[in-house]
Amino acid sequence: MAQLFQRTLGRDAWSLEALLSLQQDGQVWIVEQEYTLAGAMAFLCEPFAFRIVQIAVDPLYRHRGYGRDLVHSLVEEARRQGYPALVAEVRMENHEAIAFYKKLGFQVFPRALRYPDGSPGAVVSMEVHP
Ligand SMILES: CC(C)(COP(=O)(O)OP(=O)(O)OC[C@H]1O[C@@H](n2cnc3c(N)ncnc32)[C@H](O)[C@@H]1OP(=O)(O)O)[C@@H](O)C(=O)NCCC(=O)NCCS
Repeated sequence: MAQLFQRTLGRDAWSLEALLSLQQDGQVWIVEQEYTLAGAMAFLCEPFAFRIVQIAVDPLYRHRGYGRDLVHSLVEEARRQGYPALVAEVRMENHEAIAFYKKLGFQVFPRALRYPDGSPGAVVSMEVHP
């Protein structure tokens, strides 16, 4: 799982230790296909939102709806637990991820933040209706 994030997210990938530490206030969900890890999503349960901290689908399994399935499952979980929103951060240069979040109905706030290396990032968010 950490390897999938490393391969797809590079410098933004969380280490295995960081992912394991998520167990206290977050979770990692995976998509398995043909006994292979096709995708994974790590999220944190914050006071007013679920924060997606990493989401990745192996290039061999992209464009099959697995990313959408992961996010839709999280929307259902947020609704079940009464969380009002999902949020995530994404680099402005990551046009594919921004298109993905837009397609799923997230609102995009361009240049809302800067990454530690100075690159601009967007905050994306989606309201979860009861
Ligand atoms: C972003 C990512 C998770 C999408 O996963 P995926 O399983 O391929 O996405 P889906 O098949 O569920 O796509 C859902 C919708 O998002 C949009 N979308 C997905 N990938 C896209 C791309 N490369 N370009 C434009 N739109 C895209 C499409 O509109 C798609 O809907 P459609 O198939 O009905 O047209 C995947 O591309 C990935 O792992 N990227 C690298 C890691 C990354 O950047 N993560 C986000 C960082 S915050």
